[in-house]
Amino acid sequence: MKHLSGIVARLEAECFPRPWSEEMIAGTLENGCLLLYRAGQSLFLSDPLPDGPFTDSTESYEGYVLAQDIAGDLEILRMAILPPVRGQGKGEKLLGEFLAAVRKKRGTGSWKILLEVSENNLVARKLYARCGFQLLSHRKNYYPGGEAALILQRLEIV
Ligand SMILES: CC(C)(COP(=O)(O)OP(=O)(O)OC[C@H]1O[C@@H](n2cnc3c(N)ncnc32)[C@H](O)[C@@H]1OP(=O)(O)O)[C@@H](O)C(=O)NCCC(=O)NCCS
Repeated sequence: MKHLSGIVARLEAECFPRPWSEEMIAGTLENGCLLLYRAGQSLFLSDPLPDGPFTDSTESYEGYVLAQDIAGDLEILRMAILPPVRGQGKGEKLLGEFLAAVRKKRGTGSWKILLEVSENNLVARKLYARCGFQLLSHRKNYYPGGEAALILQRLEIV
């Protein structure tokens, strides 16, 4: 039986050139929430989110969102769809399901969803724009290649 952080680490390794380690993921899970995406059967987990043994044996997830609670707002730290199934609208569905799951969990109120994206990541930038994220600020020379990071936010008022 795998731990939740191990399942996310496996997805990370397939999705990112510089994947987060299982330890980094486990640390985020302590104060965060996670949506594991599978068409029609996504799983949303939120605090308290202990990194215990995970009973879902199929592990056939196609993507995920990992986010952290920051003083009442939420920062999306990692979001990805597995490479073989990109470009089919799953990224938009994943983000839509994540936003809906957070709204359902929190009920009424207002909060911000924040994230950071490389200026060169045009697919992700388009996706975030389609999902209502707006530019908040940018950080020059943020990534190792010298690209700027764009800080985007979406205001939720329920
Ligand atoms: C960013 C990411 C999550 C997007 O996932 P995705 O499933 O490819 O996203 P979508 O399919 O919803 O949208 C991507 C493109 O596919 C297109 N698309 C959507 N449905 C489609 C379909 N049925 N057939 C063909 N193309 C389609 C979209 O129009 C979009 O194209 P566009 O950007 O030219 O408009 C994915 O590329 C990824 O995991 N990237 C690596 C990790 C990463 O960069 N994460 C974000 C860090 S901030």
